[in-house]
Amino acid sequence: MADLILAIDQGTTSSRAIVFDTSLKPVAVGQQEFKQFYPRSGWVEHDPEEIWSSVLATCRSALRKARAKPSTVKAIGITNQRETVVIWNRRTGKPIHKAIVWQDRRTAAFCAALKEKGLEPLFSKKTGLLLDPYFSGSKIAWLLDNVKGARQLAERGELAFGTIDCFLIWRLTGGKVHATDATNASRTLLYNIHTGAWDEELLRILGVPRSLLPDVRDCAADFGHSVAEHFGATIPICGVAGDQQAATIGQACFEPGMMKATYGTGCFALFNTGPKAVMSHNRLLTTIAYQLDGKPTYALEGAIFVAGAAVQWLRDGLKLVKTAGETGKLAERADPNQSVYLVPAFVGLGAPYWNAEARGAVFGLTRATTAAELARATLESVCYQTRDMLEAMRKDVGDAGRTVLRVDGGMSASDWTMQYLADILDAPVDRPPILETTALGAAYLAGLQAGLLPEPGRFAKTWRKQKRFTPKMNARLRDARYAGWTNAVRKLLA
Ligand code: G3P
Repeated sequence: MADLILAIDQGTTSSRAIVFDTSLKPVAVGQQEFKQFYPRSGWVEHDPEEIWSSVLATCRSALRKARAKPSTVKAIGITNQRETVVIWNRRTGKPIHKAIVWQDRRTAAFCAALKEKGLEPLFSKKTGLLLDPYFSGSKIAWLLDNVKGARQLAERGELAFGTIDCFLIWRLTGGKVHATDATNASRTLLYNIHTGAWDEELLRILGVPRSLLPDVRDCAADFGHSVAEHFGATIPICGVAGDQQAATIGQACFEPGMMKATYGTGCFALFNTGPKAVMSHNRLLTTIAYQLDGKPTYALEGAIFVAGAAVQWLRDGLKLVKTAGETGKLAERADPNQSVYLVPAFVGLGAPYWNAEARGAVFGLTRATTAAELARATLESVCYQTRDMLEAMRKDVGDAGRTVLRVDGGMSASDWTMQYLADILDAPVDRPPILETTALGAAYLAGLQAGLLPEPGRFAKTWRKQKRFTPKMNARLRDARYAGWTNAVRKLLA
């Protein structure tokens, strides 16, 4: 039987496992949604035990569907929702609290207080990030300060922190390996992206003991072996990257100037800046796109918190559609002369506004507004937010204005949305045939380390587009539509 690679994609709303062959064709998929906890307004939690059991179940189901003999699975790659924080007891392996999810805003006041003290430039300079509750650091501090006895245990070295990749590695290896990769580390507010080390000064400011932290490795590296009881054989774990970085790899954006946007729960655009960490003057993030052979490649990142989540809201909250896929069709029926704008600031606004307190709003409703206009405004909001990010990138690095945007993730399946995106960006948008680029990136990293797949340059040559969307809208209309959006955001933040 031919060799296989197992990719684990642990996302915000579901866990997926995809078995790939060594030409990176998906052979079988397992998927399971899990529960979201919203204990208070702006708080979002996951149960780490449910995450773990869903990962085991989806892996086993994908391997079963692929009829894979355990011995033929040569490598495991992991990609994950980033920034989400788990802290567990090293002895028992039990989490001390639910996972605090990247969308969670509970540390907004703590971050604001650090900003008041003038500390944001220090954090930005070292980590490439901003003082926003989005990132892991303030969430770790919250857990240590709010879970009874946690700080004492942490100070005695009895607790471990990890982003989800790290927690899964710990569990898969039976507690033998406490490690993460450079991309996940680069989202914690604790990791110096220039020196490639946890930063003692930032740890001190946030009150996080060094003993909590994992070892940081390359994206293609040895992360130990999964113990035999999980999948019937010991399998090397050898590829790890945060989901947006894995998508950048899966989209083969290896050259400086290449850019991808992934439309999942949120939308994240990464622009490769090569070995140079470009610091943004326009509220974008500087992050590690991937690290191979000890060498980091950097990216500028625009992060928006709500993309597919707004479509989920139409489906589950407002019940305007039965499936997410219907939204595009409904939007096509909208009256184009109505100017309805949805600003989906459900958990605040990310790039380039970074306002943790903002909440969503709809502008321009009239008696004639129907479900169709709301659906259209929802899809359009994702395109306008992408344009906001691109505008900031254009200001930081002029090249971003000339690049093609490679898209992936669930929402990119909608032709209507991708055409509107190309129109509003006034830039070509390329969609590959496989939209599972996140899992593909993780599988590639694992296959690379296992010696099953070629180096990035050769892998990049295999990248194909399924469809290119070219801008068709006239400039006057584009400017008017985008001005309407910026106006709506201005009113919301006023
Ligand atoms: O930074 C958060 C991001 O990693 C979550 O990705 O795909 O679950 O929306 P996704």
